[in-house]
Amino acid sequence: MNNNGHLISMKNVTKVYKTGKIHVDALRGVDLDIGRGEFVAIIGPSGSGKSTLMNIMGCLDMPTTGEYHLDGRPVANMGIHQLSSIRNKKIGFIFQNFNLLAYATTFENVELPLIFAGKPGAYRKQRVMECLENVGLANWAEHKPTELSGGQMQRAAVARALANEPDIILADEPTGNLDSKSGGEIIDLFEQLNELGRSVVTITHDMNIAHRCHRIIRIMDGLIESEKHNGNGRDKNLTQD
Ligand SMILES: Nc1ncnc2c1ncn2[C@@H]1O[C@H](COP(=O)(O)OP(=O)(O)OP(=O)(O)O)[C@@H](O)[C@H]1O
Ligand SMILES: [Mg+2]
Repeated sequence: MNNNGHLISMKNVTKVYKTGKIHVDALRGVDLDIGRGEFVAIIGPSGSGKSTLMNIMGCLDMPTTGEYHLDGRPVANMGIHQLSSIRNKKIGFIFQNFNLLAYATTFENVELPLIFAGKPGAYRKQRVMECLENVGLANWAEHKPTELSGGQMQRAAVARALANEPDIILADEPTGNLDSKSGGEIIDLFEQLNELGRSVVTITHDMNIAHRCHRIIRIMDGLIESEKHNGNGRDKNLTQD
């Protein structure tokens, strides 16, 4: 194990998107370490590279150049099966638009990652209900997403992200489609998960949410522009959008 035990360790990571003759430098050399149990907000203007960075963190995309170690292992050397297994077992994803299957029940949505992980039926039933209880949706197991409010849909997505007990939760603007009360409930859940030892990294445009995280990283034009550790006075030129 290297990288001083960091869960996420990036060195000089770049990402260039090539569409036809157009090249976009979405990330231009990012160095970033995130340890176990951290609670991190990523902020920055639209188009600055936040989702690109998170997709690389979550092994949904690969850097163009640079190194990425996840839990001490170089992601570049992993095959496609190893990558999908890591995504399924180590990482819980939460997206702005919930990404729930519309024709499946809340129960079935949360069960899916457990099926992919090869868990037996009895365990799945018990684990799904445990996750739904954690997010206050035990009574909504048999309902379809269309019968849920936005806040409830996102809580179902949190339950799904937790199913395989991931080390890290990655959320891309999880409260972007929610009213402030429902958004607050999602951050309450993240806070609880973090207190139980999980790393949580969330992209947000909402400074009220960013300030509830313990560390705020600001991305600008594909680079980390500044960082702030909430509550311990280690500010490094943090400015708002
Ligand atoms: N698949 C893609 N193909 C080509 N260009 C892309 C792709 N994804 C992102 N980009 C470009 O890369 C840059 C960074 O995009 P990214 O989605 O990471 O920004 P962001 O900070 O998440 O923005 P937002 O706050 O609007 O979600 C932008 O210029 C964007 O247009
Ligand atoms: Mg984005």
